[in-house]
Amino acid sequence: MHVSAQSQITNHQSQIASWESHWAPYDDSIYGPALEALRAEDVVLDIGAGDLRFAVTAAARARRVIAIEQQTGLIGAGPWPTNLEIVIADALAWPFPTGVTVGVLLMRHCTHFRDYARRLRAIGATRLITNARWGMGVEVVDLLAARVDFGRLTAGWYACDCGAVGFAAGTPDAITQESLERAAAVARCPACGWRP
Ligand SMILES: C[S@@+](CC[C@H](N)C(=O)[O-])C[C@H]1O[C@@H](n2cnc3c(N)ncnc32)[C@H](O)[C@@H]1O
Repeated sequence: MHVSAQSQITNHQSQIASWESHWAPYDDSIYGPALEALRAEDVVLDIGAGDLRFAVTAAARARRVIAIEQQTGLIGAGPWPTNLEIVIADALAWPFPTGVTVGVLLMRHCTHFRDYARRLRAIGATRLITNARWGMGVEVVDLLAARVDFGRLTAGWYACDCGAVGFAAGTPDAITQESLERAAAVARCPACGWRP
């Protein structure tokens, strides 16, 4: 049977989209840096909180944690920390509350990064702790950071509001230590329709 490259890509994308709703815990290599990035005064919105293992630990570090998870069956009987609020809902549809200072999106196969980041900005959150863009490790996204026009990038890493990351082409002499160590924030990139 011949399978075209386009249908292979489409199958791959729909597989990733369906992985988004699966629950799988991470380990301390993810939870450790994510917890370190929390501040005592934070009000945390943990999006796709799974069985709440991160949210419970986060509640010991932050002022308040709101954990949203769509699968009722993952949530045990408690008891839960008094500063942990559990919301069983679809995070794509549930209106994010005001007062949140930081989002947590530990969801490696997330296909709605732009939507979550945009809605966090809209309620005044300033940081997003996530493994969704790079797929490994944890980054703390500054939601207030100015984004560079993709066309102005010289050689170096970039991370886009759409959730894509990559290395912008350029001549070797344009590569600097900074462009290797820091990813430029962009609002549009080739993966989401940016064209020269
Ligand atoms: C890979 S698991 C990670 C769970 C948790 N963040 C952790 O690190 O332990 C992703 C979780 O996100 C949840 N999820 C995905 N999309 C969701 C949505 N739209 N609304 C609520 N939960 C969602 C899934 O049900 C699943 O439990």
